[in-house]
Amino acid sequence: MSKKGVLVTGGAGYIGSHTLRQLGEAGEQVVTLDNLSTGFREAVLYGELIEGNTGDKALVSQILHDHNIESVLHFAAHTIVPESVSNPLKYYGNNTCATRNLLACCQEAGVKHFIFSSTAAVYGMPEADKAWEDTATAPINPYGTSKLMSEWMLRDLSAVTDLKHVVLRYFNVAGSDPEGRIGQSTAKATLLTKVACEAALGKRESVAIFGTDYPTPDGTGIRDYIHVEDLAAAHLCALDYLRNGGESTTLNCGYGHGYSVREVLDAVERANGKPLNIREEARRAGDPPQLIAGADRIHKVLGWEPQYDNLDTIVRTSLAWERKLQSKSTQ
Ligand code: UD1
Repeated sequence: MSKKGVLVTGGAGYIGSHTLRQLGEAGEQVVTLDNLSTGFREAVLYGELIEGNTGDKALVSQILHDHNIESVLHFAAHTIVPESVSNPLKYYGNNTCATRNLLACCQEAGVKHFIFSSTAAVYGMPEADKAWEDTATAPINPYGTSKLMSEWMLRDLSAVTDLKHVVLRYFNVAGSDPEGRIGQSTAKATLLTKVACEAALGKRESVAIFGTDYPTPDGTGIRDYIHVEDLAAAHLCALDYLRNGGESTTLNCGYGHGYSVREVLDAVERANGKPLNIREEARRAGDPPQLIAGADRIHKVLGWEPQYDNLDTIVRTSLAWERKLQSKSTQ
C-alpha cells in the first residue's frame, strides 16, 4: 500500500460526510469510523465505513495500522449544547475522553497530521464585536469545555511529538451539498436554519425567535453562518497545509460577518415563496447576542477562499435537502 490513508471519524455525520465526499472526489484514500449514533450509513459516499467508537483502543489501532493512516480528521462528537448541560459526562466521555484515546492511538501509530473539529462555543460570550483566535476562551457550557479540553490535549501532545495539528473552530454551519446527495439529517433539530426549513415545509407548525430584545439592529441574535461546503473545503486546505510542512495552528471557520435570526427567516421565506409561521419567545439560556468570526487568519494561513458566502444560497440548499428528506419519508 503506497498511498497514505486518511481516517475520518464521524464521516457519517453532517460535516464529516461533506468533507469525506470532497476528499473522495479529490482521490484521497479514505476510511470512516462512525458509531452511527447520529450519523447515517448512506451519507458515506466514499471508502469503507467501519462501525465503532473512537474510544475503542483496539479497533482504532487496528484501523490506523490496516489503512496505513497518516492523517486523521476527527469529527465524531456529540454537539447539542442543551444536552451537554443536562448530561455533562456524556459530553466529557464521548468528546474529551474518547479524543484522548484516539490521540494515544495516533501517537503509538506515528500518525503525522490531525485536524480537529472544534467550535466557536470555546469563546463563550465574547465582549468584542468578533471572536478572534487569540480572544480568551471561556466556554459557558460543557459542550464548549469538552472541545476546549481536546484542543489543549492536542496542543500539549504536538509540543512533544512529531504530530502536527490544525484546530478548526466552526461558527454556525448550515446548507447542504449543492447536488443534493447529502445534508443535515439530524432528528430533533435545534439549529435555526434546519428548524426554519422544517417549519417552511410544514414538518413543524412554526419557528420561534428566541429573544427580540438583544442589543442588535433588529433585536434578534446574530451569527456567522458558514456553508458546509466551504467548511468541508477548509479541511482539505488544512490537510494540504500540514502535508506541506505547516506548523500546528488554530483557525476560526466563519465568513467574518453575520445575519440576525430575522434575516435568516426572511431568507427562508424568500426561498420557499411563502411566509413562515413565526412565534416570538424569550431569550434561550446561554445564547450570546452576537457571535462572529474574526476570519482573517484562515485566509492567510490556508489560502481558503469560500465559494458560498451568500445567505440565500445557504438557505436554498438547506431547504432543498429538507424537501428531499420529506419526499423520502412519504415514499
Ligand atoms: C451553533 C452550534 C454551536 C456553535 C455555535 C457557533 C450546534 C448544535 N450548535 O449554536 O456548537 O458553538 O453555533 O456560533 O451545532 N434560534 C432561534 N430559534 C430557533 C433556534 C435558534 O431564534 O428555533 C436563534 C438562537 O437564539 C441564536 C441563533 O438562532 O441566536 C442560532 O442558534 P442555533 O442555530 O441553535 O445555533 P447556536 O446556538 O449559535
